[in-house]
Amino acid sequence: MKLSAFCQLAAYGLKTILGGKCGPILGTVILTDKCNLHCKHCSVNNLTAVIHPYPQILVEMQQLYAMGVRILFFCGGETFLWQSQGKTLRDLVVKAKQMGFLIVNVVTNGTFPLQLPEADLILLSLDGDRQHHNAIRGDTYDLIMHNIQNSVSDNICLYMAINQINKDAIKPVCQTAKDTPNIRAVSFNFHTPYPDTKQLALSTAEKAKCCADIAEMMAAGAPVFNLKSAFPYLINNTFPTPCRQCVVMKNGRLSTCGRCIDVPGLCKQCGYFFVAEYTLLFQGNLRLIWEMLHTYLKYI
Ligand SMILES: C[S@@+](CC[C@H](N)C(=O)[O-])C[C@H]1O[C@@H](n2cnc3c(N)ncnc32)[C@H](O)[C@@H]1O
Ligand code: SF4
Ligand code: SF4
Repeated sequence: MKLSAFCQLAAYGLKTILGGKCGPILGTVILTDKCNLHCKHCSVNNLTAVIHPYPQILVEMQQLYAMGVRILFFCGGETFLWQSQGKTLRDLVVKAKQMGFLIVNVVTNGTFPLQLPEADLILLSLDGDRQHHNAIRGDTYDLIMHNIQNSVSDNICLYMAINQINKDAIKPVCQTAKDTPNIRAVSFNFHTPYPDTKQLALSTAEKAKCCADIAEMMAAGAPVFNLKSAFPYLINNTFPTPCRQCVVMKNGRLSTCGRCIDVPGLCKQCGYFFVAEYTLLFQGNLRLIWEMLHTYLKYI
């Protein structure tokens, strides 16, 4: 991360913590819900299969920037399926950087060639070793690893959603992150149990075991892009929700925190690590602030 970007984000953090400011800093634009996969844990793919047009995405990005958002995520559906008026996902990333967003990240299932050197991070979903990943995501593991190997840049961060199917496959993903060129780190989430995937939710004891596995791998030198200080809150779901500093834009509609905000009761069972990390940060949790500074400077 450039020093100027770091200073601007740090100033925002200070204003929020000291001055009680709570405007959004992190925004997500949903480019489409169209997807080439049908993962077992996912409730958001192919609901409309509409690819939102470039002018609409551009307006959404401008709106987010005007609101003060400086960390931008593009998400889907599958983001690499997005194309509109001759523009590609890469054009969107370049445009976002030109508009002044300080960090621009893309979330992808990794089944398309990875050519996004301008992105700060490509969050690439890998849900276990070959066996566990394929059990959730179909026969895609080898293709994804091939795409990672052939990526034009080393800005890949693995992204694992931990659920009942893959809860014992955390260590192999950490090892892959450590051993594979082009992969910078791995970031985790716990399954957030939408009504149609409740059966994949983890118990408190299972989440504690997962965090112990992650912590063990961190101690062994695995590059984990998460904050250990947030683990107890994630295990017990005691972090504040929703995240008031996070917004999502989907088909022209702005929601606080995630697109899941309207699902009754879901926030109490939220498994998204970023929600815990950001809400605790803005509450002024000193240990977490220190860990976040250290972690962001290391991996972005
Ligand atoms: C909805 S996908 C969209 C981007 C892309 N298609 C992908 O799979 O990375 C974004 C991320 O959300 C995760 N995810 C989907 N459903 C989830 C759930 N119920 N709880 C936690 N993470 C979930 C996916 O595993 C993926 O890492
Ligand atoms: S690839 Fe992403 S959007 Fe598609 S089904 Fe899987 S998790 Fe959902
Ligand atoms: S806190 Fe609620 S809205 Fe935010 S990501 Fe979690 S479940 Fe979704």
